[in-house]
Amino acid sequence: MKYAKLIETARNALQKAYAPYSAFRVGAALQAADGEVFTGCNIESSSYGLTVCAERVAIFKAISEGVMDFEAIVISAETDDFCPPCGACRQVLSDFAPDLKIVMVNNKGDSKESTISELLPEAFGSAFLTKKV
Ligand code: THU
Repeated sequence: MKYAKLIETARNALQKAYAPYSAFRVGAALQAADGEVFTGCNIESSSYGLTVCAERVAIFKAISEGVMDFEAIVISAETDDFCPPCGACRQVLSDFAPDLKIVMVNNKGDSKESTISELLPEAFGSAFLTKKV
């Protein structure tokens, strides 16, 4: 499996999740084009809406380190079902990595592959923001 190591990294990242309110732990491992890996986990707030998902933690860590080119992200959850990225994360992932591969992993370690363009078709993006005066 091409992403076996990245899957393992995402499953380990899940252990760091701070999810006392939902008890739903998520881990992410984002692989940059040069092979560097950035991990993320969900971090919840007592003001629930301020919670940040694992995927956005991972990509914001990467961008804050000056890394902008990405190949794949693994999303790991402890459920039987594969955990797909939420709508907000789809938008952010699409903004920064329109060709990103998405690998979802369940509690058994089974995986399912998709792409951000499949999960967010007809995406809004920076091209819409060119000034039209
Ligand atoms: N969550 C993620 O971290 N990633 C997802 O793809 C779906 C949801 C988190 C947010 C919140 O901490 C918990 O899962 C329940 O929604």
